Amino acid sequence: MPTSEVVHELTPDDARGRLVDLLTARGWITQPQVAAAFATVPRHVFAPKGTSVDEAYADDVVVTRRGPDGKTTSSISAPWLQAYMIEAARLQPGSRVLEVGSGGYNAALLAQVVGPSGTVVSVDIDPQVVANARTALEEAGYGRVLVVCGDGEDGYAAGGPYDAVIVTVETSDIPPAWTQQLAPGGVLVAPLRMRGHTRCLTLQPGDGHLVASASLQCGFVPMQGHGRDPVRRVPLRGDDAVLVLDDSRTQVDADALRTALDGPRLELRSPVTAAISDGEAFEAIHLWLASQPRPYGILKVDRERTAGLLDPQDRFFCPTLLTSDSFAYLTLRQHDETTWQFGAQGFGPAAGALTGDLIDLVTAWDQHERAGGGPQISVYSAGTRLPDTGRLRLLVPRRHTLTALTWPRSSR
Ligand SMILES: C[S@@+](CC[C@H](N)C(=O)[O-])C[C@H]1O[C@@H](n2cnc3c(N)ncnc32)[C@H](O)[C@@H]1O
Repeated sequence: MPTSEVVHELTPDDARGRLVDLLTARGWITQPQVAAAFATVPRHVFAPKGTSVDEAYADDVVVTRRGPDGKTTSSISAPWLQAYMIEAARLQPGSRVLEVGSGGYNAALLAQVVGPSGTVVSVDIDPQVVANARTALEEAGYGRVLVVCGDGEDGYAAGGPYDAVIVTVETSDIPPAWTQQLAPGGVLVAPLRMRGHTRCLTLQPGDGHLVASASLQCGFVPMQGHGRDPVRRVPLRGDDAVLVLDDSRTQVDADALRTALDGPRLELRSPVTAAISDGEAFEAIHLWLASQPRPYGILKVDRERTAGLLDPQDRFFCPTLLTSDSFAYLTLRQHDETTWQFGAQGFGPAAGALTGDLIDLVTAWDQHERAGGGPQISVYSAGTRLPDTGRLRLLVPRRHTLTALTWPRSSR
């Protein structure tokens, strides 16, 4: 007799309950009003037709729109990140919120948290995203969200001032509208790219500049419109190995780097180890290496297609020290059952010096900075002259702002 397996798909109600349990168990949801929002808002209504309930309620991104090159231009962000950002915004019933980058689902979560006495304005630059968001919000019962088509770089002054501005698109800068439209005591939550590394920052005004009280590694689709500021990509092996540069001061000889990759490689190990689950260590060491006053890039590889040639610590965001014709990147090799060991692998004429420097920097981070939990991140107006504090400081100059990453975060 033929056997058949009956697969029961979860109902949306069950799937929402499962998602809330997962986000709570993982620590992303701690506030009851945020749990209630995730338990209430029907995420599947905002997903493209044909998305299964399992996919719609997985703790993952749902792609909703792609550009002509196939790259994602809009998505429903991952629930863990939405929960993190909403909690970071410290919303109350009655709060006023501006969301930059729309889609509808996150705006509905926000509307649920701030309640009928609150205000949610959501701005997107893509008219199709705006139309889809309006339709889905109406269907889900959140027609009170105002969805505006425009460049989020300008915010939406007519709806302000806001208790929170939540930016859900990767930005390399903080345009003035976002801070100007904040109410006193308001919070700006934004994924800011600094030397290629994007961190979701919880920013509050203080003393004429913005100070980050929290920072979390994250990824978003890049900003379009006036704030468009793509990174430079240097293909080392076509698209299989790409060096990403996010600092106009860093110049490389692309042909020389490609030639270096054909030559011998040098690998060194550091004495520094980390548990693979120690996400904070990886986030901090990336920013520490990016903060050094020297040419810096990020290596991005297709692990399968570069196996045997390149084996970086992180396949998307691997810190890389550079000269014009050589490079060395961070590695991670298994040390024992539970720990992994940082190291460096280098190519090109300066491989010896670069790998040695990388090992010294990793060791210095372990000895002096690791316990400090990362840099102080502050955002100043462009052109601000900062007094020398004697501490290591990476300055990221952009059109509107100057971001400073200072190590250690407070003077010892
Ligand atoms: C990750 S999606 C937003 C996700 C959404 N908040 C959700 O519900 O999960 C990023 C959005 O930002 C939009 N975007 C890109 N540049 C923009 C800009 N300058 N102003 C407003 N929206 C922009 C894109 O069209 C895209 O829809």
